[in-house]
Amino acid sequence: MTTSLRTELGDITTFEVDAIVNAANSSLMGGGGVDGAIHRAAGPSLLEECREIVRRQGGCDTGDAVITAAGDLPARHVIHTVGPVWTGDAPEEHDRLLASCYTRSLELAEQHGLASIAFPNISTGVYGFPKPRAAQVAIGAVESAVARLESVTDIIFVCFDQENLDLYRHHLGDGLETH
Ligand code: APR
Repeated sequence: MTTSLRTELGDITTFEVDAIVNAANSSLMGGGGVDGAIHRAAGPSLLEECREIVRRQGGCDTGDAVITAAGDLPARHVIHTVGPVWTGDAPEEHDRLLASCYTRSLELAEQHGLASIAFPNISTGVYGFPKPRAAQVAIGAVESAVARLESVTDIIFVCFDQENLDLYRHHLGDGLETH
């Protein structure tokens, strides 16, 4: 199975893929940044579905992920994952939790037989994860998961700023990276 990894600059709410990944918080009740943009674009049904998940299982742990429909978004699903807040101590633990956001999101995409998934640069905004380190952790986690993927064939890292785009392009090259 060939899986393509690529990076694009843009607003993840505009991507017409099987799933976009939301950099949520553990309450799943929305927020600012990409979380706010996704909930605004999806409409109130997204928050209602998140409320149902919270009623059923409580919130979402850091490093874990949950999947919902996508309301008015062009994507079919939203995978909500909670990245670590960068505090500077225990950096290896932060790396592990950030990598888990990517691998758990891919696991959910596989369980739902999805083919295409778009990731934002999780934890690099409000949560303050250093962008160079986050890019390496994200790409490393996805590359190590690729061999196990069967339904996911198209992975897009959606960057919202030039710094992240340059970092991802440095690691991925300008073209497609296929495995
Ligand atoms: N499309 C793609 N990427 C975006 C968008 C967008 N529309 N809006 C913001 N981003 C980028 C930011 O520039 C950053 O690079 O998403 C990345 C993640 O930043 P945040 O959204 O701040 O997420 P994070 O750092 O993981 O912090 C999560 O912020 O919004 C709250 O509820 C959220 O508490 C949670 C926290």
